[in-house]
Amino acid sequence: MLNKADFEKVLRPVEMAESLPPVCYVDETLFDREMDQAFRGGWVSVGRLDDLVVPGDYLALDVGGTPLVLLLDSSHQLRAFANTCRHRGTQLLPPGRGRCKRIVCPFHAWTYGLDGALLAAPRMDDAVDFCHADYGLVAVPAASRAGFAFVNVDGTAPPIDTWLGDFEAVHSPWRLGDLITASTREFEVRCNWKIFLEVFNEYYHLQKVHPSTFSVYYASPDPLDKVAGNFSTQFGEHRGVSSTGKVDDGTGPLPPLPGLSGRNLRGTRYSWVFPNLTFAASIDAVWIFEAIPLTPALTRVNMTVCFPQASVEQADFATKLSAYERRMEAGLAEDIPVIETQQLGLSSSLARAGRYSPGYEPSVHAFHRWIAQLLSESDDG
Ligand code: FES
Ligand SMILES: [Fe+2]
Repeated sequence: MLNKADFEKVLRPVEMAESLPPVCYVDETLFDREMDQAFRGGWVSVGRLDDLVVPGDYLALDVGGTPLVLLLDSSHQLRAFANTCRHRGTQLLPPGRGRCKRIVCPFHAWTYGLDGALLAAPRMDDAVDFCHADYGLVAVPAASRAGFAFVNVDGTAPPIDTWLGDFEAVHSPWRLGDLITASTREFEVRCNWKIFLEVFNEYYHLQKVHPSTFSVYYASPDPLDKVAGNFSTQFGEHRGVSSTGKVDDGTGPLPPLPGLSGRNLRGTRYSWVFPNLTFAASIDAVWIFEAIPLTPALTRVNMTVCFPQASVEQADFATKLSAYERRMEAGLAEDIPVIETQQLGLSSSLARAGRYSPGYEPSVHAFHRWIAQLLSESDDG
């Protein structure tokens, strides 16, 4: 098991730190604590919700093992509720997206409004002191920032803007809130959720794993930005290419995001909103990944590719989009075998903590510090 000394090594400055102990990638008890403290105790992204457009549009999903319904209420406000009936607990809506005027329980037809209020409960007249107002759906704090939706399952996290700190200010040139979802894909990877996010946020593996795709694009990345908030971000200037995001099929890239200027027109910002949202904000597109932990060694990933409105409206957008999709497929096909192999190595009883390449893996270290702090705080309790 872990002790305080293991965490202290992670908390050192990156040049001296050790990586998270391997047990953090395989142990069921630690996984449960991560679900409790990071996924239910914090603000967690549930992705882009640009398809929640009219009142009653909903998304039913699990966050930290807790089934939730996210919906737009009649005033177009984002709301989240436990996806659990207040009568005898039936799950109200199956996972997925849809549209409803009311939420009707499939068991005994208790019926809830879009504000979570219990509107109808048939044949309850004999129940003494039964008051509809006492049996509304359990509400969960929900907020949207920069086009992403966030929920805090247990309601104990600080306000969303305190949680995100500088996040919106740092990313304002990319105008994330205005982007349009052009492509989505869901897949599973046989690794711990942290591993999937880590590989996306380090430049160290590019030469070995992506020798002819992504590695050719970057010179040395900038140092990690000093930011307040539960995220890390690192900018990498490109080496002589305007877009890292498309295969070279002879077609030109889509136009740059309209808010970019200066160096932001010559590089990609890799950002990681702890625990589970990461994206590459590049010149012409933004790639977004959400990691959804299923077990310590299995992760579902939601990938989303976004572009500005002007790009989506181009006549040849569908053709150009495919060049971007193929580039990311090629990158994932290189990453996934290696991170699944990493999971196998970390599962060994002889695995040990390692060290970081300070210039190329500072985001991984920043995230490990975040997790180490979280898990060691709970050790105190
Ligand atoms: S469990 Fe939902 S109405 Fe009975
Ligand atoms: Fe990679």
